[in-house]
Formats: sequence, structure tokens, C-alpha cells
Amino acid sequence: MRREINRRRTFAIISHPDAGKTTLTEKLLYMGGAIREAGEIKARKADRHARSDWMSMEQERGISVTSSVMQFRYKELEMNLLDTPGHRDFSEDTYRVLTAADSVIMVLDNAKGVEQQTRKLMEVCRMRDMPVITFINKMDRHGLPPLDLLQNIEESLDLETVPLSWPIGQGDRFRGTYNLHRDELHLFSHADMEGNHERLPIESIDDSRLDDVLGDQAEDLRFDVELMREAGNDLDKQAYLDGRQTPVFFGSALSNFGVGDMLDSFVELAPTPRPRPTTTRTVQPEEANFSGVVFKIQANMDPKHRDRMAFVRVCSGRFKRGMKVVHQRTGDETRLQNATTFMAQDRAGVDTAYPGDIIGIMNHGTIKIGDTFTDGEELHFTGVPSFAPEHFRKVHLDDPFRAKHLNKGLTQLSEEGAIQVFRPLRGNAYILGAVGALQFDVTVARLDDEYNVDAHLSGVRYTCCRWVSGPADVLDDFEAKNIDNLFRDAEGNLAYLGLSQFRLDRTIDDWPELSFEKTKEHT
Ligand code: G4P
Repeated sequence: MRREINRRRTFAIISHPDAGKTTLTEKLLYMGGAIREAGEIKARKADRHARSDWMSMEQERGISVTSSVMQFRYKELEMNLLDTPGHRDFSEDTYRVLTAADSVIMVLDNAKGVEQQTRKLMEVCRMRDMPVITFINKMDRHGLPPLDLLQNIEESLDLETVPLSWPIGQGDRFRGTYNLHRDELHLFSHADMEGNHERLPIESIDDSRLDDVLGDQAEDLRFDVELMREAGNDLDKQAYLDGRQTPVFFGSALSNFGVGDMLDSFVELAPTPRPRPTTTRTVQPEEANFSGVVFKIQANMDPKHRDRMAFVRVCSGRFKRGMKVVHQRTGDETRLQNATTFMAQDRAGVDTAYPGDIIGIMNHGTIKIGDTFTDGEELHFTGVPSFAPEHFRKVHLDDPFRAKHLNKGLTQLSEEGAIQVFRPLRGNAYILGAVGALQFDVTVARLDDEYNVDAHLSGVRYTCCRWVSGPADVLDDFEAKNIDNLFRDAEGNLAYLGLSQFRLDRTIDDWPELSFEKTKEHT
């Protein structure tokens, strides 16, 4: 059991659109032998973006399945790479998937540094003290000076940086990287896009071979390396594991340069499957009994059925096909005959899975985000929360006789985490909340398709949301004074919807006895 756990790394790649996440993913899968040709994932992505509306996009069901979880092997290790949807399909799932990962690789564009979507995703990583390795990409193009990039990470993410490789020039003058830990020179060839770049072990930074190979750039490198060694931070594995320090690599994903270097350090440093909190105790991965938590539900996996797939992260014990498990929220016992595991190419039936692995369970609408499965013990995992929505719409129904169906549809969709639903304390129109605007299109399409409800949405002025709790008497007073901003979510929790960040901040200041939360645990 310990051996299997130690062999696993479950992680996600986060980035702002266009920084190179798809390109890097592809190189990782290629190096892991999970795809035969570089270009496969890219082609799928292009295909996906060529489609304009969600329904036709979803008709290519296979795309979303295979890219949700990608398993590949690297140096005898089982790598579970979780996809964090970005671009148009950025949604609450993007955040939630991170809660199933043990660590992340952050990809930055060397010309842009930390961008907005990366910052948002990093907020979620910071909530969970998640270890982060940074890959600064596109060094074959001209970008910001490396020191500025490090400073940018430190300042905008409050994260100490430790460069483990150092770039030699960039753009046209990019010659490669110097591995600061192994004293190794990696030479970049602009002509070689396959990644067969030369590695040159050298004695030390003073080795005269550097001058032979790098010419006048050798002195610049020596200066930089000396500066790093004197003024830079030392690698502190514990600080990395605690999410306080990030090892940094420079490279060019497109030409597969620096990716292997980063991956080698990743497998050495990145945590094996970590313990997970429950409402009663912390579950250790090596415990003999099986347990798992649902972090994502995907609908319409098969166009012929209304089935949904629940993605379960195995938290402890060994999963075996056909084993009996208890769905903790309902108390129902089910036999997991048809669980699925995820190879990059195909869905494949799974016989055995270990902590850190992801399995897919078919679901007929009874499974909710955050649900726990065990082989007996009563447990409820925490840490797969809802995230405060940032986009809001009001729901209108043309046919009032479909109100019951609308209600049912919205309840189920919110249980799946597809959308958040709020009911005003005064009045009765539903407000929908989403982290990514595409969630609204998906909701309208699914209400029509699965519940035969013809709903349409209109804009509202709310821009932010917080879940509110506190002493009952203060809450009574708060409700009376803020009635027009107050709502109950699908689980009955009180939520404040604000018209602007400024107003929200003022409300928070005005009510110091109340707590205003950006995330909410499922109950
Ligand atoms: P994303 O998933 O983070 O959105 O980024 P993606 O990998 O799709 O990369 C975005 C663009 O950046 C692509 O160019 C890609 O080829 C390019 N790119 C990625 N890594 C590197 C790199 O190391 N160096 C350079 N120079 N470019 C890189 P595109 O023009 O949008 O697409 P395509 O025409 O190449 O397919």
C-alpha cells in the first residue's frame, strides 16, 4: 500500500490563457508515453475552440472526458494530471478540481508574469497551502528580465521564489539554462523543436568550457548565478510543501526545453497523496479502509443516457472493481461495478485504484458535490467547497406551469455544482450565480434538454457574493437592514449579494460580529 501511495503524484497545471498550459500538458503526456505524437492535445483544443456553442461542444463528449483527468507514467511513477478548464469554459469546476490535487505546476508567460486568472487560481491554492512549482515559459521569445519575473511572483502572490534553473539570455539570444543544483548546462537549439537538446555536465560555474560554448554570455551567466547564490533563497523542501516557497524553472514548452528538468524535480519534490480532513478526523492515505470524495460531476457523458459521471478522488485504502461502498449522505449501499479510470487516450475500466487516483462513478442524479463514499465507516470529507460566484443572472420562466420543473432542475444542477441558485428573502425570482459565464449557457441548455423547461436569463446588478453567519440576534438586525441584498442558497445558507466590492467592504466593516465567507462547505 505504502509503495503504491509513494508512486503517485496527483497535480494540476494552472495558468492564464495562452501562457502555454496545453503545450506543457502535451509535452508531459508525450514524455510519459500517454500520447504518441506531440500535437494531439493541441488539435483537440483547437477543435474545441472552433465550436461556438456549448451544446455542439458537448456533443464531442469524448473531449471533455479524456481531458478531465490524464494519467501517465513517468520514471515508474503514476502521474494523475487534473485538467483545470480555462478560457471560455472557466467555471467553478476549475476551482474545485484544484481541491482534488495535492500540488500544482504554475505556468507563466515570460513576457507577462502573473496574470489575472493565475492569481485567482492561486488564491484557491493558498487556501489549502498547496505546494507550487513554477515554470516560466516561452524563453525562446523575448520577455521580462528573469529577476523582474521572480520579483513579480514574490510580490503578487506573496510566495518566496527559488530558481532551480537559470536562463542564459532570451528570445534570439536564448542559449539554454543552467541547473543551479546539478551544475549542468542545458543547451537550447532554436532549430530543435523535438526536445533533444544537449546537456553538458560541468565542474562548476567557473568551468572554462562555459566560455567555449557560451562566448560573451558566459560572464553574464556567472554574474547571475553568483547573485542567486549569494542573495537568493535556499531551497527549503518544507517551505515548498507548506506552500510558502516555489521552486522556479525557465524553459520553452513549445520546443520541449526545460520541461524534463522541471519534471525531474517535480517528481522528487512534489508530495505523495496527502491526508484529507473530514468532519470528525483526518484520514491518512495508508489506512486500510477505502474512502473517497466527489469533487466534480460531469453531465451528458453519453448522449444516449442522462447519466452523469461523479469524479471521486480516492483518499484512503484500495479501491477494487465491484466492491461495495456506502454513499455516506444517503446511507445507500452500492456495488461499484462500472467504475472508470482515466488514461489520456481513453476511458478504461479500472480494477484497482489507490489513494491519489481518480475514479469515475456513473450517477443517476443522486450524487452531490462533496459526497463521501467509504467501505463502511461513517465519514464526511470536507474541503470541496462552493466558491463565491462572480457573475449573476435572474431566471425568467415563460410558462408558469413549468415552475415545479424549474425548481427541480435548478436543485439538481446546483447539487452537481453546475450552477449556484439563490432565492431572495423578499420576492421569489431565482438568481443564478456562477464563477464563469459559460455556466449560464450550460444551465439554460440543460434545463431545456433534461427538464423540458424553457427559461431565459437577464442581467442583474450584483457583482459579488459572501456567505454570512454569526450570532442570531445580530443576524436578525442585519437581515432587517439589508433585506434587498439577502438570499438563501440551495442549502438554505444566508448569502449577501453586493452591488460592488466597495459596498461589500463597507458592509463587512459595518458588521464586525458577522463573518462573510468566500467559500462554503457542502453540508
Ligand atoms: P494555454 O493552454 O495556456 O492557453 O496555452 P497554449 O499551450 O495553447 O499556448 C498558447 C500559445 O503560445 C500557442 O500559440 C503556443 O504555440 C504558444 N506557446 C506555448 N509555449 C510556447 C513556447 O515555449 N514558446 C513560444 N514561442 N510559444 C509558445 P498560438 O499561436 O496561439 O497557437 P499555435 O498556432 O501555436 O497552435
